[in-house]
Amino acid sequence: MKFAITGGDGAVGHHVVALARRAGHETVVISRRMGVDLMRADGLTERIAGADAVIDLASPTTLSTRKIVAFFTSSARNLATAEQRAGVGHHVALSIIGATEYPSGYYAGKAAQEEIVTTSRTPWSMLRTTQFHEFAQQTVNRGTIAGFHISPKMRAQPLAAADVAVELLLIAEGAPRGLEPDLAGPREEYMPDMVHRYARAVGKRNPLLSVSMPGVAGRAMRDGSLLAAPATRTTTQTFAEWLSSLQEWKGL
Ligand SMILES: NC(=O)c1ccc[n+]([C@@H]2O[C@H](COP(=O)([O-])OP(=O)(O)OC[C@H]3O[C@@H](n4cnc5c(N)ncnc54)[C@H](OP(=O)(O)O)[C@@H]3O)[C@@H](O)[C@H]2O)c1
Repeated sequence: MKFAITGGDGAVGHHVVALARRAGHETVVISRRMGVDLMRADGLTERIAGADAVIDLASPTTLSTRKIVAFFTSSARNLATAEQRAGVGHHVALSIIGATEYPSGYYAGKAAQEEIVTTSRTPWSMLRTTQFHEFAQQTVNRGTIAGFHISPKMRAQPLAAADVAVELLLIAEGAPRGLEPDLAGPREEYMPDMVHRYARAVGKRNPLLSVSMPGVAGRAMRDGSLLAAPATRTTTQTFAEWLSSLQEWKGL
């Protein structure tokens, strides 16, 4: 099969691309590094032509809610238009548990994206998950402010991006099936603790500042509303196991 994967070099996207290639599928990566900006969509229809599914795993890095909402709105609309022009019959989306219930900050963007995907003429599948273990890595990689690593105060139930990628590929290989059962990690963690442990593991010694994020999503992060409901499917790899498996700091 052929899959067009937006964000195909991102935290979850690169796992999907690797898995798909290993399974013998053809992959087309869509990102600015690969010459396509989803906000402008020049050449997008041509890039996704012939794909059995588009797997949308792009994400903005800005902290501005206005820019986040603009990113997810434009990218989802541009993809829907290109899919209709190219005759692509399956759009696979990845969202976050709680995005539509607590639509502020990043989650406002995800809620806008969900709305466009689920009302598009392209048949779709959507998986909602909790945060990735890699969220801690992304937070540290974003750098420091006044010498501090910054983490949101957040009760999380993280899972490995690699486990999410396995699910996404299975979904893309099948027929469109709407909203998938949610997927979450095996246990609750505290995000500032995850960020601190990741930073120490890669030899970064800066102090950590945990901050209360604004809005309904910020409150939900703090009060545990973003944890998975009790009956939610869970993966098995814990944050500690993920951390100890990381190649980049093995042997340090
Ligand atoms: N991280 C989490 O904890 C988490 C949890 C649940 C769901 N999700 C969802 O998973 C998806 C992927 O997230 P991630 O954390 O894996 O992302 P990520 O590591 O931040 O990677 C983002 C990707 O998007 C691409 N991108 C950014 N702006 C673009 C643009 N204007 N045009 C084209 N490509 C663009 C980037 O490549 P370029 O910079 O080269 O453009 C990169 O490949 C998102 O939908 C996110 O909401 C994430």
